Amino acid sequence: MNSFQPDYNIYFDSSDLEAALICLSENGYCVIKRMMPYRWVDELKSEIDRVLDPGQDLPESSNRYHMMFAEESEVLWRLMDHSPYLNFLRLIHGTESVCLHRSAAILRSPGESMGNWHKDHRGHIKKPKTANDILNRLSIPSGCWFYLNGSHPDRSGIAVIEKSHIIGWDGPEGYRLTQEGSTFCPIEASSDYPCNSMDVPGCVAICADPGDLICFAARTFHANVATQERRYSCGLGFRPKSDCIDAPWPLPQTASALAERLDSRHRSYLDGYTGFDGSWIAETD
Ligand SMILES: [Fe+2]
Repeated sequence: MNSFQPDYNIYFDSSDLEAALICLSENGYCVIKRMMPYRWVDELKSEIDRVLDPGQDLPESSNRYHMMFAEESEVLWRLMDHSPYLNFLRLIHGTESVCLHRSAAILRSPGESMGNWHKDHRGHIKKPKTANDILNRLSIPSGCWFYLNGSHPDRSGIAVIEKSHIIGWDGPEGYRLTQEGSTFCPIEASSDYPCNSMDVPGCVAICADPGDLICFAARTFHANVATQERRYSCGLGFRPKSDCIDAPWPLPQTASALAERLDSRHRSYLDGYTGFDGSWIAETD
């Protein structure tokens, strides 16, 4: 399968992080192999089932999200005692002084079609209106995700557009950014609509194994590929404590509960953690 595959290396061992970060910086994404012991993968899937599908009633062709998954997961916190992951965090942030920024889990069922191309970064939004607008303004990797089924265009996973993270990138050839700026559509479209085709210049369908860490940069455009299986993924993001965020929502009770249950050696990762309030909307003036 050669379509949608780059002609340069995107796979790096966790002992070769400098090269991984060069690839991330140059191309907007990379895959770090075996970042998580494989035996944790099934445990994480069970945790995602517990929080997102406790009644085992997720319909076909649908999805559910948990936007504070680190508050529920035990397994993710094992990464904070796992030297390959700690080395990665230290190198990517340039400091050991980091706090939990945000986290998520996504469960998808077979039959879901490809998602819309988008970037998560919201720095172009002048007046933040939602929690995503508040939190997604830093130049830290937007995606540090474990695709627990792996990632493959024939089954499920993620695609990215190479080099789309570069400041000034204004859409793939033949496409234009929409007015809002988070997605793109064909140049000839008479009105904006989000594109969800794999057949776009620069599209790379990421192939990865369970336990690999798929990283993409703050502004990299990405989309979930069509889902042919029950698909589990989770993401964990930290930021330097020096990047203070004054969240306009009160600390959610679930975030306080995390501080209570977390082992004391991990509690300093919550200094600066804002939690996530998906119901918060800025007051209009
Ligand atoms: Fe996204």
